[in-house]
Amino acid sequence: SRCIAILNGGGDCPGLNGVIRAVVRAAVLQRGWRVLGIEDGFDGLVEGPRCRELDIRAVRGILPRGGTILGTSNRGNPFRYPLTDSDGNISLCDVSQRVVDNFHRLGADALVAVGGDGTLKIARRLSHLGMPMVGVPKTIDNDLRETDVTFGYNTAVGIVTEALDRLQTTAESHHRVMVVEVMGRDAGWIALESGIAGSAEVILLPEIPFDLDLVCEHIMRRRQAGSRFSIVVVAEGAFPRGGGKVVQATAEQTHGLERLGGIGHFVAGEIERRKGLETRVVVLGHTQRGGTPSPFDRILASRFGVQAVELIEKHEYGTMVALRGRNVVSIPIEHAVNGQNLVDPAGNLAWTAEQLGIHLGR
Ligand code: F6P
Repeated sequence: SRCIAILNGGGDCPGLNGVIRAVVRAAVLQRGWRVLGIEDGFDGLVEGPRCRELDIRAVRGILPRGGTILGTSNRGNPFRYPLTDSDGNISLCDVSQRVVDNFHRLGADALVAVGGDGTLKIARRLSHLGMPMVGVPKTIDNDLRETDVTFGYNTAVGIVTEALDRLQTTAESHHRVMVVEVMGRDAGWIALESGIAGSAEVILLPEIPFDLDLVCEHIMRRRQAGSRFSIVVVAEGAFPRGGGKVVQATAEQTHGLERLGGIGHFVAGEIERRKGLETRVVVLGHTQRGGTPSPFDRILASRFGVQAVELIEKHEYGTMVALRGRNVVSIPIEHAVNGQNLVDPAGNLAWTAEQLGIHLGR
C-alpha cells in the first residue's frame, strides 16, 4: 500500500478543502492508500515534520468550507527560509535538504503541493532534488499559465459581482461615484469579469495603464446623459499611465477622503478633486477569498484532486494538473511557472467590455 502527503502553500482560496477531500477519497477509498496532511504548508516540512493522518472521517463535511483544514503559510519557501540566530537576527537560509529528509522520514511515496506561482516554483525545485512531486494550481487571481482556469477564481468573481449589484443601488440613490478596489496584483481577470457581470461603468486593470482624464471625461459624459452615478472597478495592481504602482496614496491625492489607502483611494480622490463629484471607496480585500466555494470551484477542485492521485498512481512526477477545455490533463510543472496568464488588452474579453460601453481607462 502506498502513502501520499499533501500540503497547501501561499494564500488560501475557496476550493482547497475540496482538493484535500478528493485526494483522500480517491487514495483511501479507491486505492486503499494512506494520506498524510502536512500542516501550514512547507513550514510543516521544515519544522517537525508536522502532519496528521487524513482518513475519510477527517475530510467529512469540508467540501463547502472555505480556507484549508491544513493551514497554509506565506513565509514557507524552503530555499529562502527565515531563521533567527541566537542574537535574534533573521536571515534567509536554504533549508531544502531538511524538507527532503523530513519528507523521507514520513515514509510517503509522493507529495501533492497545492498552490500558486510561488508554491509551484518550490515544487519544481524540489522535484529537481529528486522529490516525487505533483502540483495542483491554485489562485483566485487566475494568473497561472497552462490551465484555462484555477479554482477559487469563479467564487471570487461571484463575490465581487454580488458586491457590485449591492453598490449599484446605493450609488444610484446618492448620485455617487463608487470606486471598488478588487484583488489582482498582476492580472485584471477578477476586475474585468466581475466588472462586466456587475455592469461597471469603468474597469481599470494592471494590464492597461489608465488615463485619469479619460476616466473623468467618461463619467461626466454619463452624467450629462442622465446617469448621475457610476461604479468604477479598480484592480489593486492597476496604475496610471506614465506613473508607477500606487502603494499608498498621499493625503493630497485622496483629496479629503477620510482614510488613506491604495489605488482605489487614489482614483476616488482624483475623481473628487478634478470633477467635484461625491465619491466613496470600497476595498473588498479578503472577503474575495473567504467563505464557501461556488459549485464550479467545488467540481474543479474535486477533479484536480482526483487527477493528482491518478498521476501518482502512474508515477508521473514533476507534473501539474490543469484544465484544458473540458478536460483535466497533466503538464510539466516547468511550463506553468514560466510567465503569467494576463488579460490581453487586445483580446476578446477587453473588446467585449468596450463594445458594451465600459471604459477601460484608455
Ligand atoms: O494572490 C492572491 C492574492 O489574494 C492577491 O490577489 C492579493 O494581492 C494577495 O493574494 C494578498 O495577499 P495576502 O493574503 O498575503 O494579503
